[in-house]
Amino acid sequence: MVDFKAISSEAFPTNFLWGGATAANQLEGAWRKDGKGPSIADALPGGKQRLTFASSKDFNGQIDEKRYQYPNHRGIEHYQRFKEDIKLFAEMGFKCYRFSIAWSRIFPQGDEIEPNEAGLKFYDQLIDECLKYQIEPVITISHYELPLNLVKNYGGWKNRQLITFYERFAKVVLQRYKQKVRYWMTFNEINSAFHFPIMSQGLMPSNGSNDYTNIFQAWHNQFVASALAVKFGHQVNSNLQIGCMILYATIYAVDANPKNQWANLKQIQDFNFFCTDVQVRGEYPASTARIFHDYQVDSQRLKITEQDLQLLKKYPVDYIGFSYYMSSVTDVTHQDTVKSAGNLIGGVSNQFLQTSDWGWQIDPTGLRIALNELYGRYQKPLFIVENGLGAFDKLTTDHKIHDDYRIDYLKKHIHAMAKAVADGVNLMGYTPWGCIDLVSASTGQMSKRYGFIYVDLDDNGKGSLQRIPKDSFYWYQKVIESNGKGV
Ligand code: BG6
Repeated sequence: MVDFKAISSEAFPTNFLWGGATAANQLEGAWRKDGKGPSIADALPGGKQRLTFASSKDFNGQIDEKRYQYPNHRGIEHYQRFKEDIKLFAEMGFKCYRFSIAWSRIFPQGDEIEPNEAGLKFYDQLIDECLKYQIEPVITISHYELPLNLVKNYGGWKNRQLITFYERFAKVVLQRYKQKVRYWMTFNEINSAFHFPIMSQGLMPSNGSNDYTNIFQAWHNQFVASALAVKFGHQVNSNLQIGCMILYATIYAVDANPKNQWANLKQIQDFNFFCTDVQVRGEYPASTARIFHDYQVDSQRLKITEQDLQLLKKYPVDYIGFSYYMSSVTDVTHQDTVKSAGNLIGGVSNQFLQTSDWGWQIDPTGLRIALNELYGRYQKPLFIVENGLGAFDKLTTDHKIHDDYRIDYLKKHIHAMAKAVADGVNLMGYTPWGCIDLVSASTGQMSKRYGFIYVDLDDNGKGSLQRIPKDSFYWYQKVIESNGKGV
């Protein structure tokens, strides 16, 4: 008889990957250095309205430094200071570090045949620096940083040629780092295009973001590109673990009204599961026809070949990476609902939850639900590759940051993870977002801080860039040291 009681424990596995996560475009800076070309992130100005601006008709990927300020151009100068930063990660005891490789450092325009050796040299050093401290690199191949040329002159991911360009890029990095890097993800938050196709697909109004046929075509092209990366990665080293990565939003129906329940289930099918169904199960879900109908996708115009479908089936991902920050609520029956803000998706305000400084609804139990929903559906290892609290931090006169609110947020989410592990979920690791303060993706602000390490830089680009460990730095150190017990 199997003793089910004995195998149900809240302990994290001994090889659990504790670490932190960043993305090249949000911290490296050096946007023109050593041959790097501009990416879509380099064209996004700072300010709370950046995504509204990037989704407007006025935006066509132009960079106008006289008119706008571009915080990603400088980032936190990680390009120059990466050794100091990795040393601090090592001090916290990181087992892994998730970062992305800026595509336009390796292929500055995206469509070259030969890679830019100077760009690769930077990642050689970054990876070696991690390995020096036994920190396992976890690489996102594409994180909201498509080369701008592919946006402006090729029309973004709706253009099938991008499959070839991505494949070339992925092959170069997989080949080069196949013995040093085991964990990879093909696209950051691939499903986010439902709401903001500019960052992940390079689609804006001037190249067709207002037509869902383009968005679904872009996804299809990305699915094929992802499958090709999995194929190649496993060919060069069968030990490589190549995952997908989605933005997971736990969504609740506001009440038991079947209309709200159905609307909510649709949201879950569309937003949370559509991309993973394809990337994990290797085929389009049964709900595809309904989804195409709801989003007025012209399936006659979609180019999806038999050969593509075979590739998707043959090369699914090895694990599911996802970000989790908050939950939201679906309500289609009340007129006077109060809206909530959120990580690219909004929703209706939830009276049972508190919100962050940016109005995101804090919900640790929602993470336990997310883990159970994802594992129940796919039975593939899960990796929480983003989670955290964007908050205003205050530097005291004696150079300290007392971020007990961040510790409280993370603590509750780690407790929820432990419970999910006891629920039977296979969880590989946890990399809180923005482990060092960096430029916010949605607002371009520095003042929206997630880090364990404070970076002295404000929203106007002023500051010494000095790195200062926050209280959460020492707390997280203990969490890792005790493998999650000292939370
Ligand atoms: C995720 C992205 O959506 O959330 C990150 O993958 C982003 O790039 C993070 O930074 C937090 O969002 P924001 O807008 O607060 O930076």
